[in-house]
Amino acid sequence: MPRTPPSAISVAIVKRKVGGLGFLVRERDTHPLVVVSDIIKGGAAQESGLVEVGDVVLKVNSTDLTTMSYQKALSALRGAKYGQRVTLLLQVREGFRSSLVTGFDSKGLHTTRRITEPVSTTDSSKRNGNVRTKAPTSSGEGLTNGFALPKPQAYDKPDAASVECSCIPSISVKPASSPLPAIPRESTNMDCSIARESSSSTEHANGSAMANGRSIKTTEMVSNVKPDAPATDERTTEPSDVVDSAVRVQFPIIKVAEHTVSVKKSPTPDRRNSSMPKSPSRDENASFHTLKNWETGERINDTLYQKAKAVTGCTRHKCIGSVMNPDHMSTDPRKHVRTEEQKIGVAVDFIKQYYNSMKRKNPEMEEKRLSEVVESIKMTGTYHLTEYELIFGAKTAWRNAPRCIGRIQWNKLQVFDHRHVDNTGLMFDAICNHLKYATNKGNIRSCITFFPPRSDDYMKDFRVWNPQLLLYAGYRQENGNIIGDPNNVEFTELCVKLGWKPKGGRFDVLPLVLQAKGEDPDWYEVPKDLILEVGLRHPRFDWFQNLGYKWFAVPAVSNIMLDIGGIEFPAAPFNGWFMGTEIARDLCDSSRYNVLQEVARKMSLDTKNASSLWKDVAMVEFNIAVLHSYQSDRVTIMDHHSACDSFMKHFANEIKTRGGCPGDWVWLTPPISGSLTPIFHQEILNYSLNPSCQYQPNPWNYHVWKGSSAKIKKPKPFKRIAKSVLIMSSMMGKAMANRVKCTILYATETGKSLEYAKSLKDIFNHAFSAKVVCMEDYDVSNLEHETLLLVVTSTFGNGDPPENGVNLAQNLLEVSKSEANREDVKQYSSIHNVTRRSRRLKREQSCSSVSRDDSANIAEAAGFLSNLRFAVFGLGSRAYPHFCAFAHAIDTLLGEMQGERLIEIGEGDELCGQEESFRTWAKDVFKAACQTFCVGEGVSSDAASKSLMGQDRSWSTNKFRVTSDIDDDVSPDILEGLSKFHKKKISLCLMNKTINLQSKESGRTTLLVQLDCPESSDIQYLPGDHLGMYPRNQPEIVNRVLARLSDDIDEDTPIQLQMFEQRTTALGTISNWVPDKRLPTCTLRCAFERYLDINSCPTPLLLKLFADCATNDKEKSRLQELAEGKSKYEEWKFHYMPNIPEVLDEFPSVKIEASLLLSQLHPLQCRYYSISSSASVHPGQVHLTVSVVNYNTQGGKGPMHHGVCSTYLNKASHGDEVHCFIRPATEFRLPDDPTKPVLLIGPGTGIAPFRSFWQQRKHEIENGTTCGEMALLFGCRHPEQDHLYKEEIQQAMKYAAITHHETAFSRLPDQPKQYVQHVLKERLADLAYNWLAEKDGHVYICGDVTMADCVNTSLIDVMASKGKMNNRTATDFIAKLKETKHLHEDIFGVTLRTFEVNNRVRTRQMSRRQKH
Ligand SMILES: Cc1cc2nc3c(=O)[nH]c(=O)nc-3n(C[C@H](O)[C@H](O)[C@H](O)COP(=O)(O)OP(=O)(O)OC[C@H]3O[C@@H](n4cnc5c(N)ncnc54)[C@H](O)[C@@H]3O)c2cc1C
Ligand SMILES: NC(=O)c1ccc[n+]([C@@H]2O[C@H](COP(=O)([O-])OP(=O)(O)OC[C@H]3O[C@@H](n4cnc5c(N)ncnc54)[C@H](OP(=O)(O)O)[C@@H]3O)[C@@H](O)[C@H]2O)c1
Ligand SMILES: Cc1cc2nc3c(=O)[nH]c(=O)nc-3n(C[C@H](O)[C@H](O)[C@H](O)COP(=O)(O)O)c2cc1C
Repeated sequence: MPRTPPSAISVAIVKRKVGGLGFLVRERDTHPLVVVSDIIKGGAAQESGLVEVGDVVLKVNSTDLTTMSYQKALSALRGAKYGQRVTLLLQVREGFRSSLVTGFDSKGLHTTRRITEPVSTTDSSKRNGNVRTKAPTSSGEGLTNGFALPKPQAYDKPDAASVECSCIPSISVKPASSPLPAIPRESTNMDCSIARESSSSTEHANGSAMANGRSIKTTEMVSNVKPDAPATDERTTEPSDVVDSAVRVQFPIIKVAEHTVSVKKSPTPDRRNSSMPKSPSRDENASFHTLKNWETGERINDTLYQKAKAVTGCTRHKCIGSVMNPDHMSTDPRKHVRTEEQKIGVAVDFIKQYYNSMKRKNPEMEEKRLSEVVESIKMTGTYHLTEYELIFGAKTAWRNAPRCIGRIQWNKLQVFDHRHVDNTGLMFDAICNHLKYATNKGNIRSCITFFPPRSDDYMKDFRVWNPQLLLYAGYRQENGNIIGDPNNVEFTELCVKLGWKPKGGRFDVLPLVLQAKGEDPDWYEVPKDLILEVGLRHPRFDWFQNLGYKWFAVPAVSNIMLDIGGIEFPAAPFNGWFMGTEIARDLCDSSRYNVLQEVARKMSLDTKNASSLWKDVAMVEFNIAVLHSYQSDRVTIMDHHSACDSFMKHFANEIKTRGGCPGDWVWLTPPISGSLTPIFHQEILNYSLNPSCQYQPNPWNYHVWKGSSAKIKKPKPFKRIAKSVLIMSSMMGKAMANRVKCTILYATETGKSLEYAKSLKDIFNHAFSAKVVCMEDYDVSNLEHETLLLVVTSTFGNGDPPENGVNLAQNLLEVSKSEANREDVKQYSSIHNVTRRSRRLKREQSCSSVSRDDSANIAEAAGFLSNLRFAVFGLGSRAYPHFCAFAHAIDTLLGEMQGERLIEIGEGDELCGQEESFRTWAKDVFKAACQTFCVGEGVSSDAASKSLMGQDRSWSTNKFRVTSDIDDDVSPDILEGLSKFHKKKISLCLMNKTINLQSKESGRTTLLVQLDCPESSDIQYLPGDHLGMYPRNQPEIVNRVLARLSDDIDEDTPIQLQMFEQRTTALGTISNWVPDKRLPTCTLRCAFERYLDINSCPTPLLLKLFADCATNDKEKSRLQELAEGKSKYEEWKFHYMPNIPEVLDEFPSVKIEASLLLSQLHPLQCRYYSISSSASVHPGQVHLTVSVVNYNTQGGKGPMHHGVCSTYLNKASHGDEVHCFIRPATEFRLPDDPTKPVLLIGPGTGIAPFRSFWQQRKHEIENGTTCGEMALLFGCRHPEQDHLYKEEIQQAMKYAAITHHETAFSRLPDQPKQYVQHVLKERLADLAYNWLAEKDGHVYICGDVTMADCVNTSLIDVMASKGKMNNRTATDFIAKLKETKHLHEDIFGVTLRTFEVNNRVRTRQMSRRQKH
């Protein structure tokens, strides 16, 4: 193949005083020497968008640089005058071509854009096979919701050598005078429009052009000029490393220095009767095409057509609009072979489309993927589409299918990826699954099944020989009559030759004839239970049903090839649902079942007289019968009016979102009532975009038979096949289901959600291909290509996402906002609004009668996630006011983006039956998913459910072991070990000292902890940030665990946890013990002291393992009972709150191996502390305010439990190592403007971050900053016991770092309890209202969540009373404060009155459950 020569363009830019022309150049080693090496940001070139890096400068105004020395060429460039237009002739970099297009911007001004694309030649010149056309038939003419379905039989493509299309609008281009000869048009691969139009435009030297008598000054580049910029010299660069490859001398020149835009007034005659051309009105010189709606008079512009590559076959002198198989919609592998360059061109274009489609851009990934694809094509001649690309490609091919009327649903296509199959048996399995999924008991769903793509040898193609998966046979009789469908006579005869036994009926479903790897095809009977048919009857004519007409429910086209980015899929059956007229034509067309006359006679119509319109009357009644029958049987169908309305909606959407919508008017207009539908009146452009659906020749026309007979492979006996069908059907569930992907997203703070996500994966892997992904690792742009998404997440803060869910939450909000064009959601903190809105929405929906699955809703536009099935499970605690709020927010957002909820959100309350709720939900969602995807038939639900009890992942002696016999017995130091274990960068601080802030009388301990941060520690923070700390379990409790281990291992020798691994390799199965990556090498003592949580109550899964290790029967059965995780477990857990040694004490017969605990215990989590110092005041130090946790279990009567971290800090000595990290709390910072007033509210340790605030303020005041007012509202029991930082606060007040201080004392003798929320209302109401409502002030709340909620309520009350608002307005006001980051919360959890709060909520929940 000759290489495509590079093109050149002529552009004009005004040279500026600053930045000159706005680009840098370097020298090449071949003439012409000057190449653009960089574009200056904001300069003339960049703003014009007309110059690109890699362009070779051929001419500057009239000076030819092609043979000039580099220096002279530079002088010529420099010589151009400032403030004047400089015309540059630029040679586009090799492998690309550029065109300049003029269109309108959003303000209606015309703009010129340069479009540079990889060169991809059309292959029109090669397509000149013999034309064998047959009369078109009607079956499946539009497959309403599927891609367009033509009915031709044997047809090769018409000669497409002369391809000047007069239907394509164009841009104003004309050959520029060039120093180099232009190549002849025929041999170029330019858009025919460009080549043709180049001769028809009228150029005016002064930069304006005349068109249709109207002259418009153009070129955006001129209007972009800023002539008053100061002068500097133009810059040049040294040659860079990049050297252009040799440039060919021949290339076409396109000049668009001047453009014309015509504004044409279209006359409005009756379209059908006028002598006006019926083609759409066109602006000869514009880069858009104006299309008129003759019914409404509305005009729209199509610009998308410019992306079309394939030529349509229409010429200046003929339109092939009614041809069944036009060249641009057909591909014949015998003639159609892409060159490497073409492959790269199409692939690059597709990958760009894919990345462009993403809601969130990722240029690095795109760049990487592009080079990967190009590299792969160069190395192997092809590339592999990722699954997401395949899904995007399939949907886009549908979106691009000009003949399909049901494209509004394009985004709602289920893709089954079977690119891995290698035999017809597996193809058959896949098709059965396809039919089952699509049929869905009549509620038809669109789907597509992909078989392997074409290799470099089309004779190895996979093909489905059937034109449609379901077809009725047509039997030719000796007398020439046909029984059955005349359309399928040829294919029926082929089936018979293959061994299929004809049944002789009118409606016999033909077998599936499948070809794998180019082998002779096998045939398979379609299992009866997969064929849904509808017997036709009429709502008024009882006799109608006796005529015995019927049709099948699923129209599934199987002979169309999908071309996705150059990867061709000759076998990719797809389906939509029927439009009524299709079935009516299948039965009534004279070349088909031809029953119209029979019906008309039954209706007593005058069939002899055409002008009686009997055909029309009968046809309408027939259509009524079809619609009535399908609707009565609840099988999806669409009437042609609704279909047209939906198309018009789609058309409008597409014009808005893509700038155009290709459409084949001839096909889109329904066969009856044409002018009664809106499409009839709409001008539409037809063009072909990639990805595309292509006709292809019937395989039997060129298949080379390999069987003993030269023609026909020996047929498989029917019985054998029937049996194999049975076997395969039973296997189908498993084999097919594995192909439906399921993504399980989780976000967690303390690890439970991850555990649940893993169990979910275990159960789903019984029927799906499931993977678990953490939200922080998930790219939200993949969402639209997901099929099945499960979300498991907890909620933290005060209704916030866990830290690893924050980004996804924000991204999801952004995407949903852009989808819905919504302004009301600004940031995550408004998530409660999302949830609130959702609840309102649900209420509203439940009042409306329209259901999502109604076929009436088919006409609705498919939303962003309309292809997604999802379900959400939330973990939380009802002790928090915003129970499972984050899970609810995710559930709402996915629903709002039109994802389909498989089942209602599940909620797991940690105070009451969290595990049990999860297991019930998981079973339900698994069942619902199996039903939805028609999978899991062969799956035992018991076996699947067992995985929820952790059996897939649990411990056994043979699975894990602990050994001290290790190659490398050097344990990593604890800092490194912790960093690896928690996958986090952890720093080392040293304990300086702790001071008890409580008085001696108090009996409680609140520590001021002062840590030293060595310079190497990486500890840098701002007031408001958190310190995360990895604590240490107390030696006493560790010793109690060690004492119970049955292993004979020294607790202070380094050990390794190992796992038994079995791998199947080419050499057989290899088994060995491999280190378990979870735990670093360390001593047993260290493992229990530093890495594992031995303080929390064991989970039911762990108790189950304990039960297995119990030797006493009574203990075993009690443990088994608890391990069920039901109410017995809940009661036991809440009453005893037992830690691991306490459980082991309760069950002394349990023989515990170290490997069990090492492999099953949860990691010892970090604890967070709000930093209590300002780094400006205490450089090199970080201070904390820590309340030491001590409590008695069993409602105060049980043993004393000590908080792990607070006790660890309480016992730490000077110089002890403390492992920690900083967690920035960006939402809890002092206002950027220090003059804004701030109100701080925090009882007890809630004062912690405020100390950092007042220290910072004091520091700033000392350094001359003017700071605004700061009020501190603190709460404690008694002024003499726990008024934390009393003296320091007084000091800060002296400096006016704190300007107001109020205290709420809760335990003053003979005084009523006072909490901060009371004092706020009683003493600070005026101040709060004034600061927050009038002075743009900020309020900060810190500490316990119940307190925070009460303070929120008080704030609402204050706003309502002082601002004279009603409660709702006041509530919205406070929500707005949150959203605008004026209300900040730092929530520790349930810390105040933990037992009472939890007990209250739990008791309420338990009694509620018992009632149910
Ligand atoms: C963002 C954030 C900031 C924080 N800032 C601070 C801070 O500045 N200062 C501070 O002191 N704390 C702060 N905390 C709390 C802190 O992280 C720890 O939770 C706290 O120190 C207790 O940890 P621990 O390891 O000592 O106790 P743990 O071993 O974790 O024990 C605590 C657990 O014991 C149980 N429990 C506690 N009291 C009772 C009771 N009366 N009855 C029954 N069960 C009970 C509860 O299950 C509780 O979860 C903050 C928390 C968060 C999330
Ligand atoms: N994760 C945890 O479980 C965890 C973490 C940290 C601390 N804690 C526990 O919390 C306690 C210490 O906390 P602390 O020093 O910060 O506070 P605190 O001294 O217990 O309480 C501070 C003040 O807040 C009051 N208060 C109680 N309930 C309130 C409510 N709903 N709204 C407003 N104010 C309320 C208290 O009053 P009254 O007490 O008089 O009612 C007291 O006056 C310790 O018992 C510690 O064990 C637990
Ligand atoms: C500081 C803190 C804040 C919390 N905030 C909420 C909340 O606002 N809403 C809620 O339902 N649960 C809240 N919880 C409870 C957790 O969601 C619950 O413990 C959950 O089981 C943790 O799951 P995870 O391990 O997957 O993170 C909070 C817990 C803590 C410690």
